Amino acid sequence: MRKRIERHLNQRTEMLSGISHDLRTPLTRMKLQLAFIKDKETVDKLTEDINEMEKMLNEYLQFTSSSYVEKDEMFNLSELISEVIEKYNNENISQNLMPRIYFNGRKNLINRCLNNLMDNSLKYANKVEISLSKKNTNLFIIIDDDGPGIPKNEYENVFKPFYKIDKGRADSKSSVGLGLSISSDIIKSHGGNIMLEKSKMDGLRVKVFLPV
Ligand SMILES: Nc1ncnc2c1ncn2[C@@H]1O[C@H](COP(=O)(O)OP(=O)(O)OP(=O)(O)O)[C@@H](O)[C@H]1O
Ligand SMILES: [Mg+2]
Repeated sequence: MRKRIERHLNQRTEMLSGISHDLRTPLTRMKLQLAFIKDKETVDKLTEDINEMEKMLNEYLQFTSSSYVEKDEMFNLSELISEVIEKYNNENISQNLMPRIYFNGRKNLINRCLNNLMDNSLKYANKVEISLSKKNTNLFIIIDDDGPGIPKNEYENVFKPFYKIDKGRADSKSSVGLGLSISSDIIKSHGGNIMLEKSKMDGLRVKVFLPV
């Protein structure tokens, strides 16, 4: 089963990195051509769109290349999570982490996944609560927030690449719609899973499961 999921993810990853790579050349050409347009408003709008497209492509290229190069290593997941939280330097984030939980995996990718999930909670909510626990051979990372949450009928959709529930909801410039699909690919490639629920604070609960 794990092999099959990995093969499926690899095919998707290869295709996306191919597309991202191919689209970069015409995009660069478009950028150069902008210099010849006189109307400032048009230039500004086009620049914004081109920048957004570039961000999407870079996101995917970065993801696909790092997942190929990085090797598994044993690392302290409790420490990694508290480092991630520390970097945000935000007093609305609270934590409840079981200490010295070790995990064998691709540390940079797990870091990336945690950042994506935290970014979401901080973008869509005010308060965030993160916990890490271990039951038998299963690790659970739970990220709760007090934002608007996600309606149940959108739980599946939000994991699709470039899918955003409501374009007006978040600042669309900083939103591509890739965070959750990348995070889910990362967790699945480690044999785990991400589930969505309602949080205690009436916002979103993101439950990450990882097998040790
Ligand atoms: N914590 C959250 N609370 C409420 N809605 C959320 C939360 N996290 C994600 N969503 C919804 O799910 C959609 C998909 O999330 P995802 O992280 O994939 O994309 P994004 O945050 O819009 O863009 P990106 O992560 O690429 O910058 C979001 O557009 C938002 O509508
Ligand atoms: Mg996001």
